[in-house]
Amino acid sequence: MNKDLLIGAATAAHQVEGNNIHSDFWVMENLKHSDFAEPSGLAVDHYNRYEEDIKLLADAGCSAYRFSIEWARIEPEEGRYDYREIEHYRKVLRCCRENGITPIVTLHHFSSPAWLIRKGGWTNECTVDSFAKYARYVAMQLGDELEYVCTINEANMGFQLQKVMDDMKKASQREGSVQVGVQLDMKKILLSMLEQGVAFRCNPLKIGAFLRPRSSEQEKIVMRSHQAAKQVLKSAAPQVKVGLTLSLFDYQPVDGGEAVAAQLWQEDFGQYLPYIQDDDFLGVQNYSRKIVDAKGAREPAKDAPLTQMGYEDYPQSIGHVLRKVAKEFPGELIVTENGIATDNDARRCDFIREAFAGVMAAREAGVPVKGYLYWSLLDNFEWQAGFGKTFGLIAVDRTTQTRYPKVSLKVLGSLNAKEGENKDEYNQL
Ligand code: BGC
Repeated sequence: MNKDLLIGAATAAHQVEGNNIHSDFWVMENLKHSDFAEPSGLAVDHYNRYEEDIKLLADAGCSAYRFSIEWARIEPEEGRYDYREIEHYRKVLRCCRENGITPIVTLHHFSSPAWLIRKGGWTNECTVDSFAKYARYVAMQLGDELEYVCTINEANMGFQLQKVMDDMKKASQREGSVQVGVQLDMKKILLSMLEQGVAFRCNPLKIGAFLRPRSSEQEKIVMRSHQAAKQVLKSAAPQVKVGLTLSLFDYQPVDGGEAVAAQLWQEDFGQYLPYIQDDDFLGVQNYSRKIVDAKGAREPAKDAPLTQMGYEDYPQSIGHVLRKVAKEFPGELIVTENGIATDNDARRCDFIREAFAGVMAAREAGVPVKGYLYWSLLDNFEWQAGFGKTFGLIAVDRTTQTRYPKVSLKVLGSLNAKEGENKDEYNQL
């Protein structure tokens, strides 16, 4: 086993657990003019099948599992905490330990309680306090079981969405997208926003769900929420290592694109640095690269291989991003997400090998990488895109919820073997 490198896979509660009925996403998915391809429903029933899933991960040879605690389960109404849900997550944490798996817990992975959005959500200052109260409750109840906590997943997503919106306006386009499964289709958005306004009892133009465009100024609420949560976590459970995660593209300048690439990096990364400098670690999430010229990011070349998500299949990008981050961020780095949406598992196996080679090369060059978590353990609910995008190491027949581990799960687990150990088996996979 590779003792100082955590290797495993990641999920997020709303994408896998099922029946997350108190969350804002549940409300949005079930509206008449919802802009989601389909509702999450029972998802892949991970809430009831976590033991089987964690065991599959451990049996493949992995050593870490990143999952999220669902705020809307813990606090379904403001100020009313549900202890039974704490007990559920305690069982998940213990199941990890019993299987030799280090848990990496995320407190907020895109979905929020519906009541929070009724109060203005991630554009309302009060959220800083609400998030800290939730974090304190989790830390008081589960503190002893926690080791790594990511407060907020892809804390930079609001500003990325804002940029896509601005570009669409400039180009008078009706559609755009960011890396995560969120499509911005103005016609659909307008209809569903009107309904969301009624459902969340607020101005449709000011719905503060997490995956919404936010200005740089509004992003400070997200950063202050992170800092407040970090403080309560550290005082209730000082041994816990705390960080957040960022979605980071590998921007590659060509033809005089250096200044634009630097500006894009500053928007995605640099502007957040002052708020996270002292964190114990940073969760680095990367899925692809963008080639940037003096006019901005180019579309992938015509002959470039694409993933199901429409961006370039380019596993080398994670290694590049780690090296870039390490120049400015002083703490440890954990790859909290990296993966490929494809129905070709042989390609996924190669993607993992190629991405991991980049991670190891960065480590050998001195980058303090502590872990590599593939996204995702299971085929799951890819937000607005629904269940059609398959990132998983395990396929699921959602009519019976039967699990079908893919070869790529074994390939990931084999990375955990010592140099030389299991080599023959690894090469045959
Ligand atoms: C998100 C995941 C998502 C994945 C693939 C990440 O940005 O954190 O929730 O499923 O990308 O799009």
